[in-house]
Amino acid sequence: MIANPVFADKFTTIFEVMSRLAIEHEAINLGQGFPEGMEPPFLVEALVRATRSGPHQYPPMLGLPELRQAVAAHDKRFYGLDIDWRTEVLVTSGATEALADCLFGLITPGDEVILIEPFYDSYLPILRRAGGVPKIVRLQPPEWSLPAEELTKAFTAKTKLMILNSPMNPTGKVFRRDELALIAGLAIKHDVAAICDEVYEHLVYDGLAHIPLMTLPGMRERCIRIGSAGKSFSVTGWKVGYAIAAPSLLGPVTRVHQFLTFATPPNLQMAVAEGMAAGDAYFADLIADLTRRRDFLAKALTEAGLPPLPCHGSYFLTSDVGTDDDAFCRELTIKPGVASIPVSAFYAENPPRRYARFCFAKRDETLKEAAARLRLTARGPMR
Ligand SMILES: Cc1ncc(COP(=O)(O)O)c(C=O)c1O
Repeated sequence: MIANPVFADKFTTIFEVMSRLAIEHEAINLGQGFPEGMEPPFLVEALVRATRSGPHQYPPMLGLPELRQAVAAHDKRFYGLDIDWRTEVLVTSGATEALADCLFGLITPGDEVILIEPFYDSYLPILRRAGGVPKIVRLQPPEWSLPAEELTKAFTAKTKLMILNSPMNPTGKVFRRDELALIAGLAIKHDVAAICDEVYEHLVYDGLAHIPLMTLPGMRERCIRIGSAGKSFSVTGWKVGYAIAAPSLLGPVTRVHQFLTFATPPNLQMAVAEGMAAGDAYFADLIADLTRRRDFLAKALTEAGLPPLPCHGSYFLTSDVGTDDDAFCRELTIKPGVASIPVSAFYAENPPRRYARFCFAKRDETLKEAAARLRLTARGPMR
């Protein structure tokens, strides 16, 4: 068999396994992390208009000027960042492509890259395929606190990059300013760049604010800030993302992009440009809507004896399910029929095996049905 060893042992992902099991058992699927029925009509209309009017040929490699300008204006508006849209914004086919562009473009084999565990599943295989050496620092549940000493020790003379995901999948953690300051201090001290996966930048609840690492003193030139229209506008299938960085960092990333996807469909880019400029009410409503869904599911999980850990961002609640998250998630999918994802899937090795992730960005009817089914399985408050 011809296969690179990094991918040879990558069997079907747990997301696929749980989704298939959910279909087989007609379970409510709270496993996959996509929003249901939340696509803003104004964005869909913008796409229809852009599709009718064209053009339909290869757009500029960096992205349409309209979208790059909109991304720069967005970052000024929300974070006070002065971004030059001509040289500091790259449009990609989803944040996943931007992440791969960064890893392939910035790593030389043997370079060390710090990852914070649990992490989004594409980081590790791409990092390994790029020849990077992962240095993993694990957050401590149930608070998902950042262990300062371990993080400090993880930086060595070989460290080139770190990946920071805030707001974070699967934990729902939003990194605080003091944690970001610790990371920034270490990055500056060791001359390390940060890939900032901020796809959930607009999904932050409880009056908290998302703070891009790029906005901390000394970090403007060291960070690549990655966003996704999929999350900000509830259109994950569109796969439109962007990367923002100083020209010296964005250059190598762009060179990978030109050989990997080269460009992203122009009509999607045009519609997303309109989304980026949406009024404050759009972003406030998104937060209010998701807060309501989060609270509904949190109550249902609590009543079922699966009280969730604190969650201030993203689409996800995690609950302590006691033991063997994998078996628990399979059982819950089969009976009473609610699919979730074992959090152990977000670890490289020796994971904690007691947390399950539930996506709350679902239709009200879906959440109500999930709540009714979870009630059937009430496991007692101490479970
Ligand atoms: C942390 C994180 N990064 C990146 C992505 C992928 O974003 P996109 O669909 O824009 O590639 C996801 C999607 O679930 C995610 O959770």
